[in-house]
Amino acid sequence: MVDVYLPMMKSAALISAGQLGLFEALSKGPLDVKGLVKALDCSPEGVLRLADFLTTVGYLERDGDRFKNTPHAARWFTRAGEVDYTAGLKWTGEAWSLMATLAECVRTGAPKATLWDLMSERASWGPTFSKYMHAFAQHLGPDLLKHVRPPPGARRLLDLGGSHGEHSIAFCRLYPEFEAVLVDQASALSATQTTLHEAGMEHRITLTAGDLREAAWGEGFDVVLFLSVVHNQTAEDNRITVERIAKALNPGGLLVIHEYPDDHPTSAYDAAFRLTLLTETGTSTASSASIEGWIAQAGLSPPQRIVLNPREKGALFISEKAR
Ligand SMILES: C[S@@+](CC[C@H](N)C(=O)[O-])C[C@H]1O[C@@H](n2cnc3c(N)ncnc32)[C@H](O)[C@@H]1O
Repeated sequence: MVDVYLPMMKSAALISAGQLGLFEALSKGPLDVKGLVKALDCSPEGVLRLADFLTTVGYLERDGDRFKNTPHAARWFTRAGEVDYTAGLKWTGEAWSLMATLAECVRTGAPKATLWDLMSERASWGPTFSKYMHAFAQHLGPDLLKHVRPPPGARRLLDLGGSHGEHSIAFCRLYPEFEAVLVDQASALSATQTTLHEAGMEHRITLTAGDLREAAWGEGFDVVLFLSVVHNQTAEDNRITVERIAKALNPGGLLVIHEYPDDHPTSAYDAAFRLTLLTETGTSTASSASIEGWIAQAGLSPPQRIVLNPREKGALFISEKAR
Protein backbone atom coordinates (compact mmCIF):
# COMPACT_ATOMS: atom_id res chain seq x y z
CA MET A 1 0.00 0.00 0.00
CA VAL A 2 2.95 2.34 0.59
CA ASP A 3 3.78 1.87 -3.10
CA VAL A 4 0.25 2.99 -4.01
CA TYR A 5 -0.19 5.73 -1.44
CA LEU A 6 3.10 7.64 -1.64
CA PRO A 7 3.22 8.09 -5.47
CA MET A 8 -0.41 9.29 -5.34
CA MET A 9 0.44 11.88 -2.64
CA LYS A 10 3.62 12.92 -4.44
CA SER A 11 1.64 13.59 -7.64
CA ALA A 12 -1.16 15.35 -5.74
CA ALA A 13 1.29 17.56 -3.82
CA LEU A 14 3.24 18.54 -6.96
CA ILE A 15 0.01 19.32 -8.84
CA SER A 16 -1.25 21.44 -5.91
CA ALA A 17 2.07 23.28 -5.77
CA GLY A 18 1.68 24.10 -9.48
CA GLN A 19 -1.95 25.18 -9.08
CA LEU A 20 -1.10 27.39 -6.09
CA GLY A 21 2.09 28.87 -7.61
CA LEU A 22 4.29 27.61 -4.72
CA PHE A 23 7.53 27.05 -6.69
CA GLU A 24 7.18 30.38 -8.50
CA ALA A 25 6.63 32.19 -5.18
CA LEU A 26 9.84 30.62 -3.82
CA SER A 27 11.82 31.50 -6.96
CA LYS A 28 12.32 35.01 -5.55
CA GLY A 29 13.88 33.65 -2.36
CA PRO A 30 13.12 31.50 0.72
CA LEU A 31 9.87 32.12 2.62
CA ASP A 32 8.57 31.09 6.03
CA VAL A 33 4.98 29.95 6.57
CA LYS A 34 3.81 33.54 7.08
CA GLY A 35 5.42 34.58 3.79
CA LEU A 36 3.91 31.60 1.96
CA VAL A 37 0.45 32.34 3.40
CA LYS A 38 0.69 35.89 2.06
CA ALA A 39 2.12 34.91 -1.36
CA LEU A 40 -0.32 32.07 -2.02
CA ASP A 41 -3.44 33.16 -0.11
CA CYS A 42 -3.42 29.84 1.81
CA SER A 43 -4.07 28.63 5.34
CA PRO A 44 -0.93 28.40 7.53
CA GLU A 45 -1.63 24.77 8.45
CA GLY A 46 -2.32 23.75 4.83
CA VAL A 47 0.78 25.32 3.35
CA LEU A 48 2.99 23.99 6.17
CA ARG A 49 1.80 20.42 5.54
CA LEU A 50 2.30 20.79 1.78
CA ALA A 51 5.78 22.32 2.17
CA ASP A 52 6.77 19.67 4.73
CA PHE A 53 5.81 16.83 2.40
CA LEU A 54 7.49 18.42 -0.65
CA THR A 55 10.65 18.70 1.47
CA THR A 56 10.63 14.96 2.16
CA VAL A 57 10.34 14.13 -1.56
CA GLY A 58 13.13 16.44 -2.73
CA TYR A 59 11.34 19.48 -4.18
CA LEU A 60 11.85 21.91 -1.26
CA GLU A 61 14.58 22.39 1.32
CA ARG A 62 14.18 23.72 4.83
CA ASP A 63 16.50 26.43 6.05
CA GLY A 64 15.55 27.13 9.70
CA ASP A 65 11.90 28.17 9.57
CA ARG A 66 12.06 29.07 5.87
CA PHE A 67 11.47 26.91 2.79
CA LYS A 68 13.29 27.19 -0.54
CA ASN A 69 13.15 25.40 -3.90
CA THR A 70 15.66 22.62 -4.53
CA PRO A 71 17.69 23.18 -7.75
CA HIS A 72 15.51 20.51 -9.42
CA ALA A 73 12.24 22.35 -8.61
CA ALA A 74 13.74 25.69 -9.67
CA ARG A 75 14.96 24.18 -12.96
CA TRP A 76 11.65 22.64 -14.07
CA PHE A 77 8.82 24.46 -12.27
CA THR A 78 9.71 28.18 -12.28
CA ARG A 79 9.85 30.87 -14.96
CA ALA A 80 13.54 31.44 -14.22
CA GLY A 81 14.35 27.74 -14.81
CA GLU A 82 15.35 25.85 -17.94
CA VAL A 83 11.73 25.04 -18.88
CA ASP A 84 8.72 25.95 -16.75
CA TYR A 85 6.58 22.81 -16.66
CA THR A 86 4.01 24.34 -14.27
CA ALA A 87 1.52 24.07 -17.15
CA GLY A 88 2.21 20.29 -17.12
CA LEU A 89 1.32 20.16 -13.42
CA LYS A 90 -1.93 22.02 -14.16
CA TRP A 91 -2.76 19.71 -17.08
CA THR A 92 -2.03 16.64 -14.92
CA GLY A 93 -4.49 18.10 -12.39
CA GLU A 94 -7.18 18.06 -15.10
CA ALA A 95 -6.24 14.69 -16.65
CA TRP A 96 -6.10 13.07 -13.17
CA SER A 97 -9.84 12.33 -13.46
CA LEU A 98 -9.19 10.18 -16.55
CA MET A 99 -7.21 7.70 -14.45
CA ALA A 100 -10.42 6.76 -12.65
CA THR A 101 -11.57 5.34 -16.02
CA LEU A 102 -8.44 3.23 -16.57
CA ALA A 103 -9.87 -0.16 -15.54
CA GLU A 104 -12.88 0.40 -17.81
CA CYS A 105 -10.58 1.45 -20.70
CA VAL A 106 -8.46 -1.68 -20.15
CA ARG A 107 -11.66 -3.74 -20.26
CA THR A 108 -13.01 -2.18 -23.47
CA GLY A 109 -9.69 -1.25 -25.14
CA ALA A 110 -10.64 2.40 -25.68
CA PRO A 111 -11.90 5.49 -23.82
CA LYS A 112 -15.65 6.10 -23.70
CA ALA A 113 -15.02 9.65 -24.95
CA THR A 114 -11.75 10.81 -26.52
CA LEU A 115 -9.71 13.69 -25.18
CA TRP A 116 -10.84 15.73 -28.19
CA ASP A 117 -14.52 15.10 -27.34
CA LEU A 118 -13.90 16.06 -23.71
CA MET A 119 -12.10 19.23 -24.79
CA SER A 120 -15.17 20.39 -26.66
CA GLU A 121 -17.29 19.82 -23.51
CA ARG A 122 -14.82 21.24 -20.95
CA ALA A 123 -13.71 24.70 -22.08
CA SER A 124 -10.56 24.85 -19.93
CA TRP A 125 -9.08 21.53 -21.14
CA GLY A 126 -7.93 22.55 -24.64
CA PRO A 127 -6.07 25.70 -23.50
CA THR A 128 -4.54 23.94 -20.46
CA PHE A 129 -3.29 21.05 -22.64
CA SER A 130 -1.89 23.46 -25.25
CA LYS A 131 0.01 25.38 -22.56
CA TYR A 132 1.61 22.11 -21.41
CA MET A 133 2.51 21.26 -25.04
CA HIS A 134 3.94 24.78 -25.33
CA ALA A 135 6.26 24.13 -22.37
CA PHE A 136 7.37 20.85 -23.92
CA ALA A 137 7.94 22.60 -27.26
CA GLN A 138 10.34 25.02 -25.54
CA HIS A 139 12.24 21.96 -24.32
CA LEU A 140 12.28 20.22 -27.72
CA GLY A 141 12.84 23.39 -29.78
CA PRO A 142 16.66 23.56 -29.62
CA ASP A 143 16.93 19.89 -30.74
CA LEU A 144 14.70 20.60 -33.73
CA LEU A 145 16.54 23.72 -34.84
CA LYS A 146 19.86 21.89 -34.46
CA HIS A 147 18.92 18.79 -36.48
CA VAL A 148 16.56 20.16 -39.16
CA ARG A 149 18.48 21.79 -41.99
CA PRO A 150 15.98 23.20 -44.53
CA PRO A 151 17.07 22.93 -48.19
CA PRO A 152 18.60 26.02 -49.84
CA GLY A 153 15.90 28.45 -50.96
CA ALA A 154 13.31 26.95 -48.57
CA ARG A 155 10.39 29.30 -47.91
CA ARG A 156 7.30 27.36 -46.88
CA LEU A 157 6.68 25.34 -43.71
CA LEU A 158 3.66 23.21 -42.77
CA ASP A 159 3.12 22.45 -39.05
CA LEU A 160 0.55 19.64 -38.72
CA GLY A 161 -0.93 19.49 -35.21
CA GLY A 162 1.07 22.66 -34.47
CA SER A 163 -1.14 23.77 -31.53
CA HIS A 164 0.57 26.63 -29.59
CA GLY A 165 2.67 27.72 -32.63
CA GLU A 166 6.02 27.64 -30.79
CA HIS A 167 7.79 25.53 -33.44
CA SER A 168 6.47 27.52 -36.42
CA ILE A 169 7.50 30.75 -34.69
CA ALA A 170 11.00 29.40 -33.92
CA PHE A 171 11.58 28.37 -37.56
CA CYS A 172 10.22 31.68 -38.91
CA ARG A 173 12.52 33.57 -36.50
CA LEU A 174 15.58 31.58 -37.57
CA TYR A 175 14.74 31.71 -41.30
CA PRO A 176 13.39 35.21 -42.07
CA GLU A 177 12.19 34.15 -45.54
CA PHE A 178 9.91 31.41 -44.11
CA GLU A 179 6.12 31.51 -44.07
CA ALA A 180 4.12 28.81 -42.31
CA VAL A 181 0.72 27.12 -42.35
CA LEU A 182 -0.33 25.57 -39.02
CA VAL A 183 -3.18 23.03 -38.90
CA ASP A 184 -4.82 21.86 -35.66
CA GLN A 185 -8.18 21.29 -34.04
CA ALA A 186 -9.98 24.44 -32.85
CA SER A 187 -9.62 23.31 -29.18
CA ALA A 188 -5.81 23.54 -29.50
CA LEU A 189 -5.77 26.97 -31.13
CA SER A 190 -7.60 29.12 -28.56
CA ALA A 191 -4.48 31.08 -27.58
CA THR A 192 -2.40 30.64 -30.75
CA GLN A 193 -3.53 33.78 -32.61
CA THR A 194 -2.59 35.88 -29.55
CA THR A 195 0.79 34.10 -29.32
CA LEU A 196 1.44 34.83 -33.02
CA HIS A 197 0.46 38.46 -32.51
CA GLU A 198 2.80 38.82 -29.49
CA ALA A 199 5.62 37.28 -31.54
CA GLY A 200 4.88 39.62 -34.48
CA MET A 201 4.23 36.57 -36.66
CA GLU A 202 0.53 36.93 -37.52
CA HIS A 203 1.39 37.91 -41.12
CA ARG A 204 3.80 35.00 -41.64
CA ILE A 205 1.94 32.12 -39.99
CA THR A 206 -1.59 31.14 -41.08
CA LEU A 207 -3.82 29.06 -38.81
CA THR A 208 -6.19 26.42 -40.21
CA ALA A 209 -8.65 24.99 -37.66
CA GLY A 210 -9.86 21.48 -38.38
CA ASP A 211 -9.14 17.78 -38.49
CA LEU A 212 -5.83 17.36 -40.33
CA ARG A 213 -7.12 14.11 -41.84
CA GLU A 214 -9.77 16.08 -43.71
CA ALA A 215 -8.42 19.63 -44.02
CA ALA A 216 -6.85 20.85 -47.27
CA TRP A 217 -3.32 21.94 -46.28
CA GLY A 218 -2.16 23.21 -49.67
CA GLU A 219 1.10 22.10 -51.29
CA GLY A 220 4.55 23.33 -52.27
CA PHE A 221 6.09 23.01 -48.79
CA ASP A 222 9.83 22.80 -48.11
CA VAL A 223 9.54 21.53 -44.52
CA VAL A 224 6.64 19.63 -42.95
CA LEU A 225 6.59 19.25 -39.15
CA PHE A 226 4.53 16.30 -37.89
CA LEU A 227 5.46 16.51 -34.24
CA SER A 228 3.99 14.34 -31.46
CA VAL A 229 0.86 13.59 -33.47
CA VAL A 230 1.61 10.03 -34.66
CA HIS A 231 0.48 8.59 -31.29
CA ASN A 232 -2.84 10.47 -31.64
CA GLN A 233 -3.73 8.70 -34.88
CA THR A 234 -4.30 5.12 -36.01
CA ALA A 235 -1.60 3.40 -38.07
CA GLU A 236 -3.76 3.69 -41.19
CA ASP A 237 -4.35 7.43 -40.65
CA ASN A 238 -0.59 7.89 -40.18
CA ARG A 239 0.16 5.97 -43.38
CA ILE A 240 -2.28 8.18 -45.32
CA THR A 241 -1.01 11.38 -43.67
CA VAL A 242 2.62 10.58 -44.53
CA GLU A 243 1.56 9.81 -48.12
CA ARG A 244 -0.23 13.21 -48.31
CA ILE A 245 2.81 14.95 -46.82
CA ALA A 246 5.08 13.39 -49.47
CA LYS A 247 2.79 14.80 -52.19
CA ALA A 248 2.66 18.24 -50.53
CA LEU A 249 6.48 18.51 -50.31
CA ASN A 250 8.63 20.23 -52.93
CA PRO A 251 11.55 18.20 -54.35
CA GLY A 252 14.36 18.33 -51.77
CA GLY A 253 11.83 19.16 -49.01
CA LEU A 254 11.96 17.60 -45.53
CA LEU A 255 9.48 15.63 -43.47
CA VAL A 256 10.21 15.88 -39.73
CA ILE A 257 8.41 13.45 -37.42
CA HIS A 258 8.73 13.57 -33.65
CA GLU A 259 7.46 10.51 -31.79
CA TYR A 260 8.05 8.29 -28.74
CA PRO A 261 8.94 5.10 -30.64
CA ASP A 262 7.48 1.91 -29.29
CA ASP A 263 10.79 0.02 -29.57
CA HIS A 264 12.38 -2.59 -27.32
CA PRO A 265 13.35 -2.65 -24.54
CA THR A 266 10.28 -0.82 -23.24
CA SER A 267 10.92 1.65 -20.41
CA ALA A 268 8.44 2.31 -17.59
CA TYR A 269 7.91 5.82 -19.01
CA ASP A 270 7.06 4.52 -22.51
CA ALA A 271 4.69 1.89 -21.14
CA ALA A 272 3.02 4.47 -18.85
CA PHE A 273 2.51 6.80 -21.81
CA ARG A 274 0.82 4.05 -23.81
CA LEU A 275 -1.46 3.34 -20.84
CA THR A 276 -2.32 7.05 -20.65
CA LEU A 277 -3.21 7.06 -24.36
CA LEU A 278 -5.65 4.22 -23.69
CA THR A 279 -7.65 6.64 -21.51
CA GLU A 280 -7.20 9.67 -23.78
CA THR A 281 -7.45 8.73 -27.45
CA GLY A 282 -7.43 4.92 -27.66
CA THR A 283 -4.48 5.20 -30.06
CA SER A 284 -0.85 4.27 -29.31
CA THR A 285 2.78 5.10 -29.99
CA ALA A 286 4.31 3.67 -33.19
CA SER A 287 7.50 1.65 -33.57
CA SER A 288 10.45 3.04 -35.51
CA ALA A 289 9.88 0.24 -38.05
CA SER A 290 6.26 1.37 -38.64
CA ILE A 291 7.28 5.01 -39.08
CA GLU A 292 10.10 4.03 -41.44
CA GLY A 293 7.61 1.81 -43.34
CA TRP A 294 5.11 4.68 -43.92
CA ILE A 295 7.98 6.90 -45.08
CA ALA A 296 9.28 4.23 -47.50
CA GLN A 297 5.77 3.59 -48.89
CA ALA A 298 5.36 7.33 -49.50
CA GLY A 299 8.57 7.29 -51.59
CA LEU A 300 10.65 9.52 -49.29
CA SER A 301 14.30 8.80 -48.40
CA PRO A 302 15.06 6.43 -45.47
CA PRO A 303 14.90 8.78 -42.45
CA GLN A 304 17.73 9.86 -40.24
CA ARG A 305 16.63 8.67 -36.78
CA ILE A 306 17.83 10.76 -33.85
CA VAL A 307 17.11 9.42 -30.36
CA LEU A 308 16.97 12.47 -28.09
CA ASN A 309 18.61 12.90 -24.72
CA PRO A 310 17.04 12.16 -22.25
CA ARG A 311 15.26 9.26 -23.92
CA GLU A 312 11.90 10.46 -22.49
CA LYS A 313 12.13 13.32 -25.00
CA GLY A 314 11.44 10.84 -27.82
CA ALA A 315 13.04 10.68 -31.26
CA LEU A 316 13.15 12.60 -34.54
CA PHE A 317 12.78 11.02 -37.98
CA ILE A 318 13.99 13.32 -40.76
CA SER A 319 13.38 12.31 -44.34
CA GLU A 320 13.85 13.99 -47.72
CA LYS A 321 11.84 14.03 -50.95
CA ALA A 322 14.01 13.24 -53.98
CA ARG A 323 15.04 16.29 -56.04
C1 LIG B 1 0.80 16.04 -28.33
S1 LIG B 1 0.20 17.50 -29.10
C2 LIG B 1 1.65 18.10 -29.95
C3 LIG B 1 1.57 19.56 -30.29
C4 LIG B 1 2.76 20.10 -31.11
N1 LIG B 1 2.87 19.48 -32.41
C5 LIG B 1 4.04 19.89 -30.36
O1 LIG B 1 4.87 19.07 -30.76
O2 LIG B 1 4.24 20.57 -29.34
C6 LIG B 1 -0.75 16.81 -30.44
C7 LIG B 1 -1.46 17.86 -31.23
O3 LIG B 1 -2.02 17.24 -32.38
C8 LIG B 1 -3.34 17.71 -32.54
N2 LIG B 1 -4.10 16.70 -33.28
C9 LIG B 1 -4.25 15.39 -32.97
N3 LIG B 1 -5.04 14.77 -33.88
C10 LIG B 1 -5.39 15.73 -34.77
C11 LIG B 1 -6.21 15.72 -35.93
N4 LIG B 1 -6.80 14.62 -36.36
N5 LIG B 1 -6.35 16.89 -36.60
C12 LIG B 1 -5.75 18.04 -36.18
N6 LIG B 1 -4.96 18.09 -35.09
C13 LIG B 1 -4.78 16.95 -34.39
C14 LIG B 1 -3.85 17.94 -31.13
O4 LIG B 1 -4.93 18.84 -31.09
C15 LIG B 1 -2.62 18.50 -30.46
O5 LIG B 1 -2.54 19.89 -30.57
